[in-house]
Amino acid sequence: MKAIEFKKDIYWVGAIDWSLRSFHGYQTGRGATYNAYLILDEKVTLIDTVKKGFEPELLERISSIIDPAKIDYIISSHVEPDHSGGVPFMAKHCPNATIITSLPNGLKGLTAHYGELNYQGVKAGESLSIGKRTLQFVTTPMLHWPDSMVTYCPEEKILFSNDAFGQHFASTSRFDDEIDLPTVLWEAKKYYANILMPYGKQAQTAIKALSGIDIEMIATGHGISWRSHIPDILACYEKWSSYEVEDRAVVVFDSMWHSTETMAQTITEAFREKGIPAVYYDLKANELSDIMTDIFTSKYLAVGSPTINNQMMPTVAAFLCYLKGLAPKNHKAFAFGSYGWGGQSIGLVEDELKAAGCEICLDKIRVVNVPSKEFLAEITEKVKAI
Ligand code: FEO
Repeated sequence: MKAIEFKKDIYWVGAIDWSLRSFHGYQTGRGATYNAYLILDEKVTLIDTVKKGFEPELLERISSIIDPAKIDYIISSHVEPDHSGGVPFMAKHCPNATIITSLPNGLKGLTAHYGELNYQGVKAGESLSIGKRTLQFVTTPMLHWPDSMVTYCPEEKILFSNDAFGQHFASTSRFDDEIDLPTVLWEAKKYYANILMPYGKQAQTAIKALSGIDIEMIATGHGISWRSHIPDILACYEKWSSYEVEDRAVVVFDSMWHSTETMAQTITEAFREKGIPAVYYDLKANELSDIMTDIFTSKYLAVGSPTINNQMMPTVAAFLCYLKGLAPKNHKAFAFGSYGWGGQSIGLVEDELKAAGCEICLDKIRVVNVPSKEFLAEITEKVKAI
């Protein structure tokens, strides 16, 4: 496995995790990469490492260019172990390397994870000369951990962006002009929706901080890097961090004996009749991370659950817990479902939608046992009247 040249004397030396299908619950249908970069200058610098277990791939790629013992600096942009897991391994193979991390949180986090190593903390705005090149550190706290930072090299006009602008996408291609752009943008949106959604304010601050910087390449921490479509991904981040929604609807449900399912179908069709594109997600057949990607930019959300043991179905509860944690904004929502007796689930769903920050746009729709044709027609009219 070899290094891939990004610019003269700047190489991608990361690892490709082709088989990853769950990143702590985020379904990674296309796998992932852990991107690391090697800069050959008077001071040889490695930007980030890889997830634990992938260190041999990192070492092999570095060794295709240079003896790893010659590395002077290891920049650790982010303590989360998908980037820093290889720090102790690399510290052993690079005995002269200083590990650069943000102050105070990067230093605290790395020490907590890996004990005492040769760390050097840097503050927001600090720079490091590595010879012909300078590395400027821009801290991006809570984007998405307290320690997060990005690194800009003005001589090369490269932003090493770590998690920002990345995607979980295993590929032998490294750049946005080597691969199907809509697919990469979809994966970037999925990454934002499932990892960065709660931090829109911090993303806006980071975008502002980067706005005066001349960027010719964004070397991401995951997936594909950007060089030909930088305005596209910046425009997406501007939109996503502002929580802009479109006139679209998402219908999410689980069902026991098809009554709630029939209601979900009717609601989906009613949105279509109203002129609003709608997507339909049965929680038994779909992944939360995919559903969330659609919800993120859709104005309307309908969530259905039958009542089981006086509760909503556990699949619906898990979905609502995930939704609430991601702190969505600007959604109009309502609850629906069928029940045999009791019927508590629909009210519970509505309560959780409110707790997740959604505005209730239609009173909860409940039906005993099986919805009649007439009841389904009423649902259609109610949805069309929203
Ligand atoms: Fe890719 Fe927050 O780690």
